[in-house]
Amino acid sequence: MRTPIIAGNWKMFKTVPEAKAFIEEVKGKAEVEGVESVICAPFTNLPALVEAVKGTSIKIGAQNLHFEDNGAFTGEISGEMLKGLGVDYVIIGHSERRAYFAETDETVNKKMHAAFRHGLTPIVCVGEKLEEREAGQTKDVCKVQTEAAFQGLSADQAAEAVIAYEPIWAIGTGKSSTAQDANEVISYIRDLVKGMYGEDVANKVRIQYGGSVKPENVAEYMGQSDIDGALVGGASLQPASYIQLVQGAK
Ligand code: G3P
Repeated sequence: MRTPIIAGNWKMFKTVPEAKAFIEEVKGKAEVEGVESVICAPFTNLPALVEAVKGTSIKIGAQNLHFEDNGAFTGEISGEMLKGLGVDYVIIGHSERRAYFAETDETVNKKMHAAFRHGLTPIVCVGEKLEEREAGQTKDVCKVQTEAAFQGLSADQAAEAVIAYEPIWAIGTGKSSTAQDANEVISYIRDLVKGMYGEDVANKVRIQYGGSVKPENVAEYMGQSDIDGALVGGASLQPASYIQLVQGAK
């Protein structure tokens, strides 16, 4: 009932020629009926990528936006600017932005509203640090982050949003959460959405797992009851592995 979504988060990798070459290689292959395929790239790549994916089913996303629509915010990019380029998705609240760029639950929420104001689909990231996991606080952390992110959004907006559960200790470390553990947290997050918006919205919202997902383990995650896709860093950078991720998500 929910369309699986594989999103590559390129982080701060790839120049424009590299980005174009990537799309040339994955065209027609990282396109599988019934699976949504999204590349979230650095701002500098976005115009070239939007052009390169024309005529394909691949969608393009940004990795951040500012919560204001315009103003004296040197170095920032607004939702209106992204939408004007033809971008469809935007990652919000990635743990790297929370850790290195002072992103808070409050700014994440403002960015969710900004994304919807401009017709962008947010992929909002939540997840616990290693010490929080070890202290048994995983669900508490996800509850605070999820409820804050969705504050003030309508039921229709909530149903459109994508949530990425990314345990921070599993990002880029090669240590992935087991598929069963990830599914348990993700079903808990779905229950939180149910508590906020009711069952219909909870059944519609897509929740991805992120953290050391690779072609070899993607099918195991996708086989779980509540996992609707993956947000993938390292393994999304090589065309061959990105193709396998999308094909493995079916
Ligand atoms: O947003 C994706 C992410 O942070 C996971 O990165 O390299 O562990 O797949 P990676």
